[in-house]
Amino acid sequence: MANQAATNIVWHSATVTKDDRQTLNGHKSCVLWFTGLSGAGKSTLANAVEKRLYELNKRTYILDGDNVRHGLNKDLGFSAADRTENIRRIAEVSKLFVDAGLISVTAFISPFREDRQVARDLLAPGEFIEVYVKCSLDECENRDPKGLYAKARKGEIPNFTGISSPYEEPLEPELVVETDLLSLEESVEKVISYLQYRNII
Ligand code: ADX
Repeated sequence: MANQAATNIVWHSATVTKDDRQTLNGHKSCVLWFTGLSGAGKSTLANAVEKRLYELNKRTYILDGDNVRHGLNKDLGFSAADRTENIRRIAEVSKLFVDAGLISVTAFISPFREDRQVARDLLAPGEFIEVYVKCSLDECENRDPKGLYAKARKGEIPNFTGISSPYEEPLEPELVVETDLLSLEESVEKVISYLQYRNII
């Protein structure tokens, strides 16, 4: 049965460790966890940060709705339970990428504090960097790049974050990037500076 937990499974310790892979790469690994409303600029910022890290010869991988909700998580919708499972799987995949020595960059609304805490708790202290991509609902609705807010206001999309489903703001994120006040370049710089300050890159 698909939902039956496996038994008689023994963790196999790797010979090549995370430390070894970080040494080979020349930088530490971590998760940059971008959270915020739809239209706040998470994917735009995540992609721009990844480009900058690539130019700096850092190894990265982006997880966002396009590559995850079309594949690994295509069985999930937007009920609270499905969002929780979406975030749980992304967190587990991110953990593997961190073990692989990469800077994992995630861009999901991840609206629930408890789910983000579960993701944080999967990682070692300091490895989970929560970046609140902050933008007012008004501004996100004005931007409405996919036309989804208009549909949600008309009642055509149930459980739409910010309209008919809650977004719980981070209480103590490592970083806040206000995309309605900063340029994209300034936002990227803020994230890169933080990684340098933390001696991750
Ligand atoms: S999350 O809540 O589970 O973290 P995720 O980031 O994967 O969400 O997907 C959000 C994207 O799915 C939005 O940017 C939007 O394009 C689309 N979407 C479709 N339905 C909804 C909905 N009900 N609420 C929010 N976003 C939705």
